[in-house]
Amino acid sequence: MFKFKFFCITGFLGVLAFVSCSKDPAVSQLSDEQKLLQQFFNLPSEPFNYASPDLPEHLKSGFVNAQKNTPAGNPVTNWGATLGRVLFYDKSLSSNGSISCASCHIQAFGFTDTAQFSKGVNGLTKRHSMSLINSAYYANGRFFWDERAARLEHQVLMPIQDQVEMNMKLDSVLTRLRSTSYYPILFKYAFGSDSVSGYRISLALAQFVRSIVSSQSKYDDGRKLVSGPNVDFPNFTSTENLGKQIFFGNRLINCSGCHLTDMMVLDNPRNNGLFETELDSGIFIHTSNSQDIGKFKAPSLRNIGLRHRFMHDGHLIGLNAVIEHYDNGIQSSPHLDTHLKDPVTGIPYKMGLSPAEKQALLDFLNTLTDEHIITDAKFSNPWLK
Ligand code: HEC
Ligand code: HEC
Repeated sequence: MFKFKFFCITGFLGVLAFVSCSKDPAVSQLSDEQKLLQQFFNLPSEPFNYASPDLPEHLKSGFVNAQKNTPAGNPVTNWGATLGRVLFYDKSLSSNGSISCASCHIQAFGFTDTAQFSKGVNGLTKRHSMSLINSAYYANGRFFWDERAARLEHQVLMPIQDQVEMNMKLDSVLTRLRSTSYYPILFKYAFGSDSVSGYRISLALAQFVRSIVSSQSKYDDGRKLVSGPNVDFPNFTSTENLGKQIFFGNRLINCSGCHLTDMMVLDNPRNNGLFETELDSGIFIHTSNSQDIGKFKAPSLRNIGLRHRFMHDGHLIGLNAVIEHYDNGIQSSPHLDTHLKDPVTGIPYKMGLSPAEKQALLDFLNTLTDEHIITDAKFSNPWLK
Protein backbone atom coordinates (compact mmCIF):
# COMPACT_ATOMS: atom_id res chain seq x y z
CA MET A 1 0.00 0.00 0.00
CA PHE A 2 2.78 2.35 0.99
CA LYS A 3 4.61 1.50 -2.20
CA PHE A 4 1.51 2.18 -4.28
CA LYS A 5 0.96 5.57 -2.62
CA PHE A 6 4.59 6.42 -3.06
CA PHE A 7 4.38 5.76 -6.78
CA CYS A 8 1.15 7.68 -7.12
CA ILE A 9 2.69 10.66 -5.39
CA THR A 10 5.93 10.53 -7.34
CA GLY A 11 3.92 10.00 -10.52
CA PHE A 12 1.83 13.00 -9.71
CA LEU A 13 4.90 15.07 -8.90
CA GLY A 14 6.53 13.86 -12.10
CA VAL A 15 3.58 15.09 -14.11
CA LEU A 16 3.58 18.36 -12.18
CA ALA A 17 7.27 18.75 -12.88
CA PHE A 18 6.54 18.31 -16.59
CA VAL A 19 3.81 20.89 -16.52
CA SER A 20 5.98 23.42 -14.72
CA CYS A 21 8.96 22.71 -16.98
CA SER A 22 6.88 23.46 -20.03
CA LYS A 23 6.64 27.06 -18.82
CA ASP A 24 10.40 27.30 -18.65
CA PRO A 25 12.15 25.13 -21.16
CA ALA A 26 15.62 25.73 -19.69
CA VAL A 27 17.33 22.36 -19.39
CA SER A 28 18.33 23.05 -15.80
CA GLN A 29 14.62 23.19 -14.89
CA LEU A 30 13.90 19.67 -16.11
CA SER A 31 13.22 16.98 -13.53
CA ASP A 32 15.73 14.17 -13.22
CA GLU A 33 13.19 11.84 -14.80
CA GLN A 34 12.71 14.10 -17.74
CA LYS A 35 16.46 14.48 -18.23
CA LEU A 36 16.75 10.71 -18.24
CA LEU A 37 13.98 10.34 -20.83
CA GLN A 38 15.74 12.92 -23.00
CA GLN A 39 18.79 10.68 -23.21
CA PHE A 40 16.73 8.07 -25.01
CA PHE A 41 13.80 9.76 -26.69
CA ASN A 42 12.75 12.77 -28.65
CA LEU A 43 9.58 13.42 -26.64
CA PRO A 44 7.97 16.80 -25.94
CA SER A 45 8.10 17.91 -22.28
CA GLU A 46 4.32 18.04 -22.26
CA PRO A 47 2.89 15.06 -24.11
CA PHE A 48 1.18 15.51 -27.46
CA ASN A 49 -2.58 15.75 -27.43
CA TYR A 50 -3.72 12.23 -28.32
CA ALA A 51 -6.76 12.20 -26.03
CA SER A 52 -8.87 14.86 -27.72
CA PRO A 53 -7.68 15.63 -31.25
CA ASP A 54 -9.36 18.54 -32.96
CA LEU A 55 -11.62 16.74 -35.44
CA PRO A 56 -13.79 18.53 -38.01
CA GLU A 57 -17.56 18.37 -37.46
CA HIS A 58 -18.17 15.74 -40.14
CA LEU A 59 -15.88 13.34 -38.26
CA LYS A 60 -17.82 13.90 -35.05
CA SER A 61 -21.21 13.04 -36.52
CA GLY A 62 -23.41 10.36 -34.99
CA PHE A 63 -22.79 8.07 -37.99
CA VAL A 64 -19.03 8.30 -37.59
CA ASN A 65 -19.05 8.01 -33.80
CA ALA A 66 -21.25 4.93 -34.06
CA GLN A 67 -18.29 3.19 -35.74
CA LYS A 68 -15.96 3.68 -32.76
CA ASN A 69 -14.58 0.69 -30.88
CA THR A 70 -12.76 2.39 -27.98
CA PRO A 71 -13.82 0.51 -24.83
CA ALA A 72 -14.87 2.48 -21.74
CA GLY A 73 -12.02 0.83 -19.82
CA ASN A 74 -9.27 2.06 -22.12
CA PRO A 75 -9.78 5.62 -23.31
CA VAL A 76 -6.84 7.21 -25.13
CA THR A 77 -4.77 9.33 -22.75
CA ASN A 78 -1.80 11.51 -23.67
CA TRP A 79 0.75 9.57 -21.61
CA GLY A 80 -0.81 6.20 -22.39
CA ALA A 81 -0.50 6.82 -26.13
CA THR A 82 3.02 8.22 -25.63
CA LEU A 83 4.04 4.95 -23.95
CA GLY A 84 2.29 3.09 -26.78
CA ARG A 85 4.28 5.08 -29.33
CA VAL A 86 7.58 4.20 -27.63
CA LEU A 87 6.60 0.51 -27.55
CA PHE A 88 5.42 0.60 -31.18
CA TYR A 89 8.88 1.69 -32.34
CA ASP A 90 10.86 -0.53 -29.93
CA LYS A 91 12.82 -3.31 -31.67
CA SER A 92 13.68 -4.86 -28.31
CA LEU A 93 10.14 -6.29 -28.33
CA SER A 94 11.42 -8.84 -30.88
CA SER A 95 13.59 -11.87 -30.09
CA ASN A 96 16.59 -10.75 -32.17
CA GLY A 97 16.14 -7.00 -31.61
CA SER A 98 15.56 -6.32 -35.32
CA ILE A 99 11.79 -5.87 -35.70
CA SER A 100 9.32 -3.40 -34.22
CA CYS A 101 5.64 -2.92 -35.01
CA ALA A 102 6.75 -0.07 -37.25
CA SER A 103 8.87 -2.41 -39.40
CA CYS A 104 5.63 -3.66 -40.99
CA HIS A 105 3.38 -0.65 -40.30
CA ILE A 106 5.35 2.20 -41.86
CA GLN A 107 4.08 5.75 -41.26
CA ALA A 108 5.06 7.03 -44.73
CA PHE A 109 2.91 4.33 -46.37
CA GLY A 110 -0.17 4.84 -44.24
CA PHE A 111 1.08 2.46 -41.51
CA THR A 112 1.26 -0.52 -43.81
CA ASP A 113 4.06 -2.21 -45.76
CA THR A 114 4.96 -1.81 -49.43
CA ALA A 115 5.86 -5.49 -49.69
CA GLN A 116 3.18 -8.09 -50.36
CA PHE A 117 4.23 -9.98 -47.24
CA SER A 118 6.26 -8.49 -44.41
CA LYS A 119 9.54 -9.69 -43.05
CA GLY A 120 9.46 -10.76 -39.41
CA VAL A 121 12.24 -12.32 -37.34
CA ASN A 122 11.45 -15.78 -38.78
CA GLY A 123 10.43 -15.26 -42.39
CA LEU A 124 7.43 -13.70 -44.08
CA THR A 125 3.90 -13.06 -42.83
CA LYS A 126 1.10 -15.05 -44.47
CA ARG A 127 -1.03 -12.00 -45.27
CA HIS A 128 -0.45 -8.41 -46.32
CA SER A 129 0.15 -5.87 -43.54
CA MET A 130 -2.95 -3.80 -42.72
CA SER A 131 -3.12 -0.04 -42.52
CA LEU A 132 -3.62 1.11 -38.93
CA ILE A 133 -5.13 4.49 -39.79
CA ASN A 134 -8.59 4.99 -38.26
CA SER A 135 -8.59 1.54 -36.66
CA ALA A 136 -10.55 3.12 -33.82
CA TYR A 137 -13.48 3.19 -36.24
CA TYR A 138 -14.82 -0.29 -36.92
CA ALA A 139 -17.94 -0.89 -34.95
CA ASN A 140 -17.73 -4.62 -34.37
CA GLY A 141 -14.32 -3.98 -32.81
CA ARG A 142 -12.64 -7.12 -34.15
CA PHE A 143 -9.13 -7.03 -35.64
CA PHE A 144 -7.08 -8.68 -38.43
CA TRP A 145 -8.27 -9.43 -41.96
CA ASP A 146 -9.99 -12.55 -40.60
CA GLU A 147 -11.11 -10.81 -37.39
CA ARG A 148 -9.57 -13.47 -35.19
CA ALA A 149 -8.80 -10.90 -32.47
CA ALA A 150 -11.97 -9.99 -30.57
CA ARG A 151 -10.62 -6.54 -29.68
CA LEU A 152 -7.59 -4.35 -30.22
CA GLU A 153 -6.36 -4.90 -26.65
CA HIS A 154 -6.01 -8.61 -27.53
CA GLN A 155 -4.61 -8.02 -31.00
CA VAL A 156 -1.63 -5.85 -30.02
CA LEU A 157 0.05 -8.58 -27.95
CA MET A 158 -0.29 -11.17 -30.73
CA PRO A 159 2.45 -9.92 -33.14
CA ILE A 160 4.91 -9.76 -30.23
CA GLN A 161 4.34 -13.44 -29.50
CA ASP A 162 3.89 -14.57 -33.12
CA GLN A 163 6.80 -16.83 -34.09
CA VAL A 164 7.18 -15.31 -37.56
CA GLU A 165 6.68 -11.66 -36.60
CA MET A 166 8.49 -10.84 -33.32
CA ASN A 167 8.83 -14.25 -31.63
CA MET A 168 9.01 -13.09 -28.01
CA LYS A 169 7.67 -14.62 -24.83
CA LEU A 170 5.71 -12.03 -22.91
CA ASP A 171 7.75 -12.80 -19.78
CA SER A 172 10.97 -11.95 -21.62
CA VAL A 173 9.43 -8.68 -22.80
CA LEU A 174 8.55 -7.78 -19.21
CA THR A 175 12.06 -8.63 -18.01
CA ARG A 176 13.59 -6.47 -20.74
CA LEU A 177 11.35 -3.49 -20.09
CA ARG A 178 11.76 -3.67 -16.30
CA SER A 179 15.54 -3.70 -16.63
CA THR A 180 15.57 -0.33 -18.39
CA SER A 181 15.80 2.97 -16.55
CA TYR A 182 13.13 4.62 -18.71
CA TYR A 183 10.18 2.23 -19.11
CA PRO A 184 9.17 2.28 -15.42
CA ILE A 185 9.01 6.10 -15.66
CA LEU A 186 6.84 5.96 -18.79
CA PHE A 187 4.53 3.35 -17.20
CA LYS A 188 4.21 5.57 -14.14
CA TYR A 189 3.22 8.59 -16.23
CA ALA A 190 0.75 6.47 -18.19
CA PHE A 191 -0.83 4.45 -15.38
CA GLY A 192 0.10 6.07 -12.06
CA SER A 193 2.58 3.44 -10.89
CA ASP A 194 5.76 2.05 -12.38
CA SER A 195 4.68 -1.58 -12.56
CA VAL A 196 5.29 -3.06 -16.00
CA SER A 197 2.74 -5.69 -17.03
CA GLY A 198 1.46 -7.35 -20.19
CA TYR A 199 -1.97 -5.91 -19.51
CA ARG A 200 -0.59 -2.37 -19.40
CA ILE A 201 1.48 -2.95 -22.56
CA SER A 202 -1.71 -3.98 -24.35
CA LEU A 203 -3.62 -0.93 -23.10
CA ALA A 204 -0.86 1.47 -24.14
CA LEU A 205 -0.29 -0.03 -27.60
CA ALA A 206 -4.05 -0.04 -28.24
CA GLN A 207 -4.25 3.61 -27.20
CA PHE A 208 -1.49 4.58 -29.60
CA VAL A 209 -3.02 2.64 -32.49
CA ARG A 210 -6.46 4.17 -31.84
CA SER A 211 -4.95 7.64 -31.71
CA ILE A 212 -3.90 7.42 -35.38
CA VAL A 213 -6.87 9.27 -36.85
CA SER A 214 -6.68 10.93 -40.24
CA SER A 215 -8.67 14.16 -40.67
CA GLN A 216 -6.64 16.55 -42.85
CA SER A 217 -7.04 15.33 -46.42
CA LYS A 218 -8.29 17.27 -49.43
CA TYR A 219 -11.50 15.30 -48.94
CA ASP A 220 -11.87 16.72 -45.42
CA ASP A 221 -11.13 20.26 -46.62
CA GLY A 222 -13.97 19.92 -49.11
CA ARG A 223 -16.35 18.01 -46.87
CA LYS A 224 -16.16 20.83 -44.29
CA LEU A 225 -17.63 23.24 -46.85
CA VAL A 226 -20.77 21.28 -47.77
CA SER A 227 -23.72 19.62 -46.08
CA GLY A 228 -23.02 16.05 -47.16
CA PRO A 229 -20.65 13.86 -49.17
CA ASN A 230 -22.99 13.72 -52.17
CA VAL A 231 -22.81 17.45 -52.85
CA ASP A 232 -20.01 18.59 -55.21
CA PHE A 233 -17.00 19.82 -53.20
CA PRO A 234 -15.95 23.37 -54.13
CA ASN A 235 -12.23 22.55 -53.71
CA PHE A 236 -12.37 19.49 -56.01
CA THR A 237 -11.59 19.41 -59.72
CA SER A 238 -14.45 18.28 -61.95
CA THR A 239 -12.88 14.83 -62.30
CA GLU A 240 -12.48 14.47 -58.53
CA ASN A 241 -16.17 15.34 -58.13
CA LEU A 242 -17.08 12.84 -60.84
CA GLY A 243 -15.01 10.19 -59.05
CA LYS A 244 -16.76 11.06 -55.81
CA GLN A 245 -20.15 10.59 -57.51
CA ILE A 246 -19.05 7.17 -58.71
CA PHE A 247 -17.81 6.23 -55.22
CA PHE A 248 -21.00 7.38 -53.49
CA GLY A 249 -23.32 6.75 -56.37
CA ASN A 250 -24.85 4.03 -58.36
CA ARG A 251 -22.84 2.55 -61.14
CA LEU A 252 -24.30 -0.80 -60.14
CA ILE A 253 -21.65 -0.97 -57.44
CA ASN A 254 -21.83 1.57 -54.67
CA CYS A 255 -18.44 1.70 -52.96
CA SER A 256 -19.87 3.70 -50.05
CA GLY A 257 -22.50 1.00 -49.46
CA CYS A 258 -19.72 -1.10 -47.92
CA HIS A 259 -16.96 1.43 -47.18
CA LEU A 260 -19.24 3.45 -44.90
CA THR A 261 -19.34 7.01 -43.59
CA ASP A 262 -16.73 9.75 -43.93
CA MET A 263 -14.24 7.31 -42.32
CA MET A 264 -14.80 4.80 -45.17
CA VAL A 265 -14.88 1.73 -42.97
CA LEU A 266 -16.76 -1.53 -43.46
CA ASP A 267 -19.61 -2.41 -41.12
CA ASN A 268 -18.78 -6.10 -41.15
CA PRO A 269 -16.47 -8.47 -42.98
CA ARG A 270 -17.60 -9.16 -46.53
CA ASN A 271 -16.65 -11.16 -49.61
CA ASN A 272 -15.73 -8.78 -52.43
CA GLY A 273 -15.24 -11.43 -55.09
CA LEU A 274 -11.47 -11.62 -55.40
CA PHE A 275 -11.43 -15.34 -56.14
CA GLU A 276 -13.76 -17.99 -57.45
CA THR A 277 -12.24 -20.44 -55.02
CA GLU A 278 -10.78 -18.65 -52.04
CA LEU A 279 -7.53 -20.22 -50.80
CA ASP A 280 -7.73 -18.20 -47.60
CA SER A 281 -11.10 -18.80 -46.03
CA GLY A 282 -11.17 -15.52 -44.10
CA ILE A 283 -13.32 -15.24 -40.99
CA PHE A 284 -14.58 -18.80 -41.54
CA ILE A 285 -11.28 -19.79 -39.88
CA HIS A 286 -12.70 -18.87 -36.50
CA THR A 287 -16.48 -18.77 -37.01
CA SER A 288 -16.70 -22.18 -38.78
CA ASN A 289 -19.88 -20.89 -40.44
CA SER A 290 -19.84 -21.83 -44.13
CA GLN A 291 -21.58 -18.54 -45.01
CA ASP A 292 -18.39 -16.79 -43.90
CA ILE A 293 -15.98 -18.35 -46.39
CA GLY A 294 -13.90 -15.65 -48.05
CA LYS A 295 -15.27 -12.81 -45.93
CA PHE A 296 -12.65 -10.33 -44.80
CA LYS A 297 -12.39 -7.10 -42.89
CA ALA A 298 -10.93 -4.12 -44.78
CA PRO A 299 -9.10 -1.19 -43.19
CA SER A 300 -10.43 2.36 -43.61
CA LEU A 301 -9.90 3.65 -47.17
CA ARG A 302 -8.48 6.90 -45.79
CA ASN A 303 -4.94 7.34 -47.23
CA ILE A 304 -5.49 4.49 -49.65
CA GLY A 305 -3.30 6.42 -52.16
CA LEU A 306 -0.27 5.88 -49.90
CA ARG A 307 -0.51 2.11 -50.12
CA HIS A 308 1.14 0.06 -52.83
CA ARG A 309 -0.61 -3.28 -52.55
CA PHE A 310 -4.17 -4.11 -51.75
CA MET A 311 -6.41 -6.78 -50.24
CA HIS A 312 -5.68 -9.44 -47.61
CA ASP A 313 -3.08 -11.17 -49.75
CA GLY A 314 -1.71 -7.97 -51.26
CA HIS A 315 -2.04 -9.41 -54.77
CA LEU A 316 -3.45 -6.23 -56.35
CA ILE A 317 -0.65 -3.78 -57.15
CA GLY A 318 -1.66 -0.13 -57.51
CA LEU A 319 -5.11 1.44 -57.24
CA ASN A 320 -5.77 0.96 -60.96
CA ALA A 321 -5.82 -2.78 -60.33
CA VAL A 322 -8.40 -2.26 -57.57
CA ILE A 323 -10.57 -0.20 -59.91
CA GLU A 324 -10.27 -2.87 -62.62
CA HIS A 325 -11.32 -5.47 -60.06
CA TYR A 326 -14.56 -3.69 -59.21
CA ASP A 327 -15.13 -2.57 -62.81
CA ASN A 328 -14.99 -5.98 -64.45
CA GLY A 329 -13.08 -8.50 -62.35
CA ILE A 330 -15.49 -9.65 -59.66
CA GLN A 331 -15.46 -13.42 -59.40
CA SER A 332 -18.58 -15.46 -58.87
CA SER A 333 -18.78 -17.62 -55.78
CA PRO A 334 -21.59 -18.79 -53.52
CA HIS A 335 -20.38 -16.38 -50.84
CA LEU A 336 -20.05 -13.24 -52.97
CA ASP A 337 -21.60 -10.23 -51.21
CA THR A 338 -25.12 -9.28 -52.31
CA HIS A 339 -23.96 -5.72 -53.12
CA LEU A 340 -21.81 -7.10 -55.90
CA LYS A 341 -24.15 -9.37 -57.86
CA ASP A 342 -27.48 -9.36 -59.62
CA PRO A 343 -30.11 -10.37 -57.06
CA VAL A 344 -31.98 -12.53 -59.58
CA THR A 345 -29.29 -14.20 -61.67
CA GLY A 346 -26.47 -14.05 -59.08
CA ILE A 347 -24.09 -12.93 -61.85
CA PRO A 348 -21.37 -10.53 -60.59
CA TYR A 349 -21.89 -6.91 -61.59
CA LYS A 350 -19.64 -5.14 -64.06
CA MET A 351 -19.51 -1.37 -63.56
CA GLY A 352 -18.56 -0.68 -67.18
CA LEU A 353 -16.62 2.52 -66.41
CA SER A 354 -15.08 4.45 -69.31
CA PRO A 355 -11.33 5.19 -69.13
CA ALA A 356 -12.17 8.77 -68.06
CA GLU A 357 -14.46 7.51 -65.30
CA LYS A 358 -11.78 5.13 -64.04
CA GLN A 359 -9.35 8.04 -63.93
CA ALA A 360 -11.95 10.10 -62.06
CA LEU A 361 -12.43 7.37 -59.45
CA LEU A 362 -8.65 7.16 -59.04
CA ASP A 363 -8.39 10.94 -58.65
CA PHE A 364 -11.13 10.82 -56.02
CA LEU A 365 -9.41 8.03 -54.06
CA ASN A 366 -6.26 10.17 -54.02
CA THR A 367 -8.15 13.02 -52.34
CA LEU A 368 -8.32 10.77 -49.26
CA THR A 369 -4.57 11.24 -48.71
CA ASP A 370 -3.62 13.19 -45.60
CA GLU A 371 -0.05 14.42 -46.04
CA HIS A 372 0.01 15.59 -42.44
CA ILE A 373 -0.44 12.19 -40.81
CA ILE A 374 2.54 10.65 -42.61
CA THR A 375 4.96 13.18 -41.15
CA ASP A 376 3.23 14.09 -37.88
CA ALA A 377 5.80 13.77 -35.05
CA LYS A 378 3.02 12.47 -32.79
CA PHE A 379 3.07 9.21 -34.71
CA SER A 380 6.75 9.04 -35.66
CA ASN A 381 9.69 7.17 -34.18
CA PRO A 382 10.60 8.80 -30.83
CA TRP A 383 13.79 6.77 -30.27
CA LEU A 384 17.11 8.61 -30.53
CA LYS A 385 19.20 5.50 -31.11
C1 HEC B 1 6.35 -8.82 -39.34
C2 HEC B 1 5.35 -7.82 -39.68
C3 HEC B 1 4.46 -7.28 -38.60
C4 HEC B 1 4.81 -6.83 -37.36
C5 HEC B 1 6.17 -6.85 -36.69
C6 HEC B 1 3.60 -6.32 -36.76
N1 HEC B 1 2.56 -6.44 -37.63
FE1 HEC B 1 0.67 -5.81 -37.33
N2 HEC B 1 0.08 -6.77 -38.99
C7 HEC B 1 0.91 -7.43 -39.88
C8 HEC B 1 0.12 -8.22 -40.79
C9 HEC B 1 0.67 -9.10 -41.91
C10 HEC B 1 -1.22 -8.02 -40.44
C11 HEC B 1 -2.44 -8.73 -41.04
C12 HEC B 1 -2.39 -10.16 -40.49
C13 HEC B 1 -3.69 -10.93 -40.60
O1 HEC B 1 -4.75 -10.32 -40.72
O2 HEC B 1 -3.63 -12.17 -40.52
C14 HEC B 1 -1.22 -7.09 -39.31
C15 HEC B 1 -2.36 -6.61 -38.69
C16 HEC B 1 -2.35 -5.72 -37.63
C17 HEC B 1 -3.51 -5.09 -37.05
C18 HEC B 1 -4.96 -5.30 -37.46
C19 HEC B 1 -5.57 -4.05 -38.08
C20 HEC B 1 -7.05 -4.18 -38.33
O3 HEC B 1 -7.65 -3.19 -38.77
O4 HEC B 1 -7.66 -5.23 -38.07
C21 HEC B 1 -3.08 -4.28 -36.04
C22 HEC B 1 -3.91 -3.41 -35.12
C23 HEC B 1 -1.63 -4.43 -35.96
N3 HEC B 1 -1.23 -5.29 -36.95
C24 HEC B 1 -0.84 -3.80 -35.03
C25 HEC B 1 0.47 -4.19 -34.78
C26 HEC B 1 1.22 -3.85 -33.58
C27 HEC B 1 0.71 -3.00 -32.43
C28 HEC B 1 2.44 -4.43 -33.71
C29 HEC B 1 3.58 -4.45 -32.71
C30 HEC B 1 3.28 -4.97 -31.38
C31 HEC B 1 2.46 -5.12 -34.98
N4 HEC B 1 1.24 -4.96 -35.59
C32 HEC B 1 3.54 -5.80 -35.50
C33 HEC B 1 2.28 -7.38 -39.88
C34 HEC B 1 3.04 -7.04 -38.76
C1 HEC C 1 -19.53 -5.70 -50.88
C2 HEC C 1 -18.88 -4.65 -50.19
C3 HEC C 1 -17.86 -3.83 -50.94
C4 HEC C 1 -18.08 -2.93 -51.96
C5 HEC C 1 -19.40 -2.57 -52.62
C6 HEC C 1 -16.81 -2.35 -52.28
N1 HEC C 1 -15.84 -2.88 -51.47
FE1 HEC C 1 -13.89 -2.40 -51.45
N2 HEC C 1 -13.51 -3.90 -50.11
C7 HEC C 1 -14.46 -4.72 -49.56
C8 HEC C 1 -13.80 -5.77 -48.80
C9 HEC C 1 -14.48 -6.87 -48.02
C10 HEC C 1 -12.42 -5.56 -48.92
C11 HEC C 1 -11.29 -6.41 -48.35
C12 HEC C 1 -11.23 -7.67 -49.16
C13 HEC C 1 -10.05 -8.58 -48.91
O1 HEC C 1 -8.96 -8.14 -48.67
O2 HEC C 1 -10.27 -9.79 -49.02
C14 HEC C 1 -12.28 -4.36 -49.75
C15 HEC C 1 -11.08 -3.79 -50.07
C16 HEC C 1 -10.94 -2.61 -50.80
C17 HEC C 1 -9.69 -1.94 -51.01
C18 HEC C 1 -8.32 -2.40 -50.49
C19 HEC C 1 -8.07 -1.99 -49.06
C20 HEC C 1 -6.70 -2.39 -48.59
O3 HEC C 1 -6.25 -1.82 -47.58
O4 HEC C 1 -6.06 -3.27 -49.17
C21 HEC C 1 -9.95 -0.83 -51.76
C22 HEC C 1 -8.96 0.20 -52.24
C23 HEC C 1 -11.37 -0.82 -52.04
N3 HEC C 1 -11.94 -1.92 -51.42
C24 HEC C 1 -12.03 0.14 -52.79
C25 HEC C 1 -13.34 0.02 -53.19
C26 HEC C 1 -13.95 0.82 -54.23
C27 HEC C 1 -13.25 1.94 -54.97
C28 HEC C 1 -15.23 0.37 -54.38
C29 HEC C 1 -16.26 0.82 -55.39
C30 HEC C 1 -15.86 0.70 -56.77
C31 HEC C 1 -15.42 -0.70 -53.42
N4 HEC C 1 -14.26 -0.90 -52.74
C32 HEC C 1 -16.60 -1.40 -53.24
C33 HEC C 1 -15.82 -4.61 -49.70
C34 HEC C 1 -16.44 -3.81 -50.65
